[in-house]
Amino acid sequence: MMRIGLAGCGLIGSVHAYALQQLAENGLVEAELASTFDTDRERAERVARSHGGRAVGSLDELLDGVDVVWICTWTAGHLEAVEAAAERGLPVFCEKPLAPTLDLCERAAAALERVPHQVGLVLRWSPVFAEMGRIIESGRYGRPLATIMRDDQYFPIQGMYGSTWRAEASLAGGGTLIEHSIHDIDVLRWLLGDPVSVSASTAATFGHAGIENVAALTLAYEGGSTATLVSVWHQILSRESSRRLEVFCEDALLFTEDDYLGPLHIQTSDGLEIVEGRRPSGSPPSRFPRSSGTPSPTTPRRARRSSTTLPPAAARRGGIRRRRRPWQHTAWWMPRTAPRRPAGPRLPMLGEPGAPARCGGRVPRC
Ligand SMILES: NC(=O)c1ccc[n+]([C@@H]2O[C@H](COP(=O)([O-])OP(=O)(O)OC[C@H]3O[C@@H](n4cnc5c(N)ncnc54)[C@H](O)[C@@H]3O)[C@@H](O)[C@H]2O)c1
Repeated sequence: MMRIGLAGCGLIGSVHAYALQQLAENGLVEAELASTFDTDRERAERVARSHGGRAVGSLDELLDGVDVVWICTWTAGHLEAVEAAAERGLPVFCEKPLAPTLDLCERAAAALERVPHQVGLVLRWSPVFAEMGRIIESGRYGRPLATIMRDDQYFPIQGMYGSTWRAEASLAGGGTLIEHSIHDIDVLRWLLGDPVSVSASTAATFGHAGIENVAALTLAYEGGSTATLVSVWHQILSRESSRRLEVFCEDALLFTEDDYLGPLHIQTSDGLEIVEGRRPSGSPPSRFPRSSGTPSPTTPRRARRSSTTLPPAAARRGGIRRRRRPWQHTAWWMPRTAPRRPAGPRLPMLGEPGAPARCGGRVPRC
């Protein structure tokens, strides 16, 4: 049984603890959460109570008793834990970004090179982007000409991202670009390769020094292809993290409004094809089950079990099996005008009375 140690038991640490527990309980991995550590002891204890293991009082104690470490502290805490784990030869999962500055990232990367490791850049595993990647790589619709990406999220020091460190440049490294659009740059590099030039403009309009919340980038590629990325942190609390990606190839426009299952839209001279992504049967659920009130990563065990049953075949399997996702292709024509949704009531702004402590209780999107 592989013993996993979790350093950093906040939002994403709890998500990982929950996911690991689901994988283990359903027989998909032979691993257990053995120890948790957080500089806020109460958080470590809460995660251990809900997802297994025991809370320990220091990073050293954590690393001494585990086979693998998950590093989910805020960004400025990653390097110390990465270096200590690599020193002991322990495999590491480290959340993105590796560190707040380029120098520190390079130090972390050098340490990680010495051990098996993975960094939490998740979008390459998203079915819709994977399908887009396959189509672009096949050349079926010609070369990519122009790519447009929009990434938006409410300023993540509120709602489900109730963290203060994301407004501190020394702890986070910056704003929407490093904290959120690091995922977008990863996907763009993966889909289109490395650009030959990049230009950007940024602004920090909410008054947090060094924390840009508006960014526009233009990336130019060999052969004349371009990509633009607009990344924004706003105060629209009803919008969870969301992305739109459009890739104009020579013979088709590929686009999606959802960064996980899609659907992927493919518009050609023949019309519009909509490719629905399906969650693989047997995969653990990606959303927290809803209990009464606000769902949370630390929902009590009974409530979690009752709403996250996996098919028996999945429960019987002894390990993770990679499967090719089945894609359902449905060709249809879109109506000229889509029905308009009525405008909702104005939500309280950042710092105003009535702003919700948690927003919608949804699982965080990367
Ligand atoms: N891959 C993704 O999609 C994704 C999503 C969310 C967050 N993240 C990343 O995960 C990290 C954590 O984000 P979060 O939302 O969970 O933040 P959070 O504020 O909810 O949790 C961070 C936790 O780390 C603890 N901590 C800080 N320094 C520590 C240290 N030296 N040792 C032990 N514990 C320490 C804090 O007490 C806190 O409990 C960040 O780097 C963030 O960028 C990645």
